[in-house]
Amino acid sequence: MQMTFFAGFFVLAVFVTHVNGCGFIVCENKSAYIKCPYPLTISVRSAIYGRSTDSSVCPGKVKTTHCRSSRSNSKVKAQCNGKRICLLKPTNRQYGDPCRGTYKYLEVEYKCIYGLRNIFFVARR
Ligand SMILES: *[C@@H]1O[C@H](CO)[C@@H](O)[C@H](O)[C@H]1NC(C)=O
Repeated sequence: MQMTFFAGFFVLAVFVTHVNGCGFIVCENKSAYIKCPYPLTISVRSAIYGRSTDSSVCPGKVKTTHCRSSRSNSKVKAQCNGKRICLLKPTNRQYGDPCRGTYKYLEVEYKCIYGLRNIFFVARR
């Protein structure tokens, strides 16, 4: 009984500290993980493969700063949402090449959230 109460409190505390989103950038051909602390799971808000800034971000060849893949958002969401860990390796092969000759990057915004499945799972433990 006491344990249940404590667990409930912990769940609430974790939830409150994770309502804010996080963002990061992975350069083309590099890789990075998204990881959410148990029992939270990933919820991707947006994932844009391309380039919207000068070469101060992911230095390399920049022919354009108006470049974004139309596929990356839905692809990353399908790949990562609902999981706790997700490996991202942005390449032209995965998202298509929205601007040839420009070194691109993947810009991801995500949150770690409680899905209904998590709550059910925690409640049963
Ligand atoms: C990324 O990797 C692919 C496949 O190995 C390669 O063809 C391409 O030139 C690389 N792109 C950059 C910008 O390094």
